[in-house]
Amino acid sequence: MQYQWYPGHMAKARRQMQEDMKFIDVVVELVDARIPYSSKNPDIDKIAKGKARVLLLNKSDMADPKATALWKNYYEKQGFYVVPLDSRNGSGIKLVSGKIMEACKEKIERDRRRGIQNRPVRAMIVGIPNVGKSTFINSFAGKAAAKTGNKPGVTKGKQWIRLNAQVELLDTPGILWPKFEDNRVGKCIGWIGSINDEILVPSEMALDLIDYIMSRYPEVLPSRFGIEISGEDTGLMVFDNIAKKRGCLKKGGELDYERAGRMLVDEVRSCKLGSLSFELPADVSI
Ligand code: G4P
Repeated sequence: MQYQWYPGHMAKARRQMQEDMKFIDVVVELVDARIPYSSKNPDIDKIAKGKARVLLLNKSDMADPKATALWKNYYEKQGFYVVPLDSRNGSGIKLVSGKIMEACKEKIERDRRRGIQNRPVRAMIVGIPNVGKSTFINSFAGKAAAKTGNKPGVTKGKQWIRLNAQVELLDTPGILWPKFEDNRVGKCIGWIGSINDEILVPSEMALDLIDYIMSRYPEVLPSRFGIEISGEDTGLMVFDNIAKKRGCLKKGGELDYERAGRMLVDEVRSCKLGSLSFELPADVSI
């Protein structure tokens, strides 16, 4: 199974983002905390060249906190200002403004030397679909935020959200697309459900997931499905056991891998197996 997905509007979105970049001091990028590498399009490094960078590990409520700590460290070493976040319940949101200011400290200092004071920094939210950009903007900007009109020099119609005295946010996020640089990345994006499910085969996805979970979280499948796993068991044997346990059988008594696969993938995505991360920095170190 090849994981591929290629929205037609991506070239247009990219051009728009490049255009908007002129007005921006800091790029605030959202990734999915369960797959911070695979949900991050590396092309943004070119588009955002020279800008201050804040990276939000969103949906961290769904990720393994130990893995999230490793990723935070990994990206901080690369110069990002990183905040693990749960945009849905707001946890971590309060730290974001401070991080944006920290990331922009050189610009603020430069302005100060030129006699410019209290000019708000201008931020743009970017990320691939479904990482939580709208949820984050709503939660970050909240009701208190005022929309400001056009600014001199800014394309007509561009709207800025005034967050506080220090930060303004471009109201439309920049949409990136996932980059399927290898099959591992494609699998990760499929597992979290940020890809068109119609082109994925649930049983194959489930089998890949089982292999991954057995290797990294060996206690999770036995405890969720009430099965025993011995050292020699292959992923397929474990899948069989899970399908039997859940009564996923076809009419003739044959195992229904399609149904079992869908069930497993749904349960993983809705965190019924706990908060799991699907990659570690060790998986991507070059
Ligand atoms: P996007 O603009 O980047 O495309 O993403 P969007 O905000 O629409 O969020 C996509 C889904 O992710 C939404 O769920 C949203 O509620 C959920 N989400 C966003 N941030 C977080 C987070 O930090 N933690 C968790 N657990 N979920 C988050 P949905 O099921 O599509 O919609 P809904 O059921 O919430 O309405």
